[in-house]
Amino acid sequence: MLIGKPSDIPSSEITSQDQYDRYMNRRRFLRGAASSVVTAAAAAVGAERLAEIVSPGTGVRAATSLQTVKSPLSTTGEQLTSLQDLTHYNNFYEFGVDKDQPAQNAGALPTRPWTVRIEGKVKTPKTFDIDALLKLRPLEDRVYRHRCVEAWGMVIPWVGYSLSEFINQCDPLPSAKYVQFLSYYNSKIEKWASGTTINWPYSEGLRMDEAMNPLTLLTFGLYGQVLPNQNGAPVRLVVPWKYGFKSAKSIVAVRFVDKMPPTTWNEQNSQEYGFYSNVNPNVDHPRWSQKSERRIGQPFYAQRHTTLMFNGYGNQVASLYNGMDLRKYY
Ligand code: MTE
Repeated sequence: MLIGKPSDIPSSEITSQDQYDRYMNRRRFLRGAASSVVTAAAAAVGAERLAEIVSPGTGVRAATSLQTVKSPLSTTGEQLTSLQDLTHYNNFYEFGVDKDQPAQNAGALPTRPWTVRIEGKVKTPKTFDIDALLKLRPLEDRVYRHRCVEAWGMVIPWVGYSLSEFINQCDPLPSAKYVQFLSYYNSKIEKWASGTTINWPYSEGLRMDEAMNPLTLLTFGLYGQVLPNQNGAPVRLVVPWKYGFKSAKSIVAVRFVDKMPPTTWNEQNSQEYGFYSNVNPNVDHPRWSQKSERRIGQPFYAQRHTTLMFNGYGNQVASLYNGMDLRKYY
């Protein structure tokens, strides 16, 4: 990344799984009964949290609830990262390279109207409107561990459905071996982008079987609300067994291709950021260890978490890499 190691931020409140479950149950109940989204959100997350969500000048929009179902693919038993930390400690270089800049600046991102183009090796190229995408499948609450390549982590309650459900609607041809994701880019709106050496738009890619793995999440929200802009509104990817930079934000195009596509961080520095970028405690970043991570929101002196192979999702994904030397294909 452009920044060597993240500086520490003050710790803040952590939401436990138990608190989250109570919050989700209450939210479901309120959805039936309460009159307005804001009322429901206020009751569910507490007035002080709501103030964070709608506070002017932070780039965070008013909360909009999403109707969700529970997911069997959710990670359990982990302390969730607070909404405050999820929305104020971000990497979104189009809106600044400092962790607090996306929260300040991403309010400028126009998230409606919004379309996603399907192109490349498909039967027929087409375009999906974001509101049609939102309705394509039931939205699931899915808690995933999130591991940034900078050796910090979070635990995030995302909202979305498996990318495979969407790919099935795209009719890719047998010659489609990889999928490329392109983020929104407008230099007039994302003025901070020009201060970097990145070749915009942000581009990421997956091998087709990685994209089709049920864990790969097409993501529209977090904490039961639509994605705040700084987290990649209105639609982003989440690939929980890979370093966070594989999860492209604010996607406008999905391109099916026959060759490994160029990706932003690999183009920036291929020695440090490989195409695969699977979380791997046995392959250090050239400038720091990947054996452990700091959990955002926990005090600086808290014990670091041991990083797990494939971020702990090995049972579901290790077979994708059978026979591959993961030191070579990092
Ligand atoms: N997508 C775009 N378009 N621009 C970015 O700068 N940063 C990546 C990824 N997706 C990035 C992006 C990185 S480095 C990480 S760690 C995650 O988004 C951060 O997601 P979060 O801010 O929701 O935690």
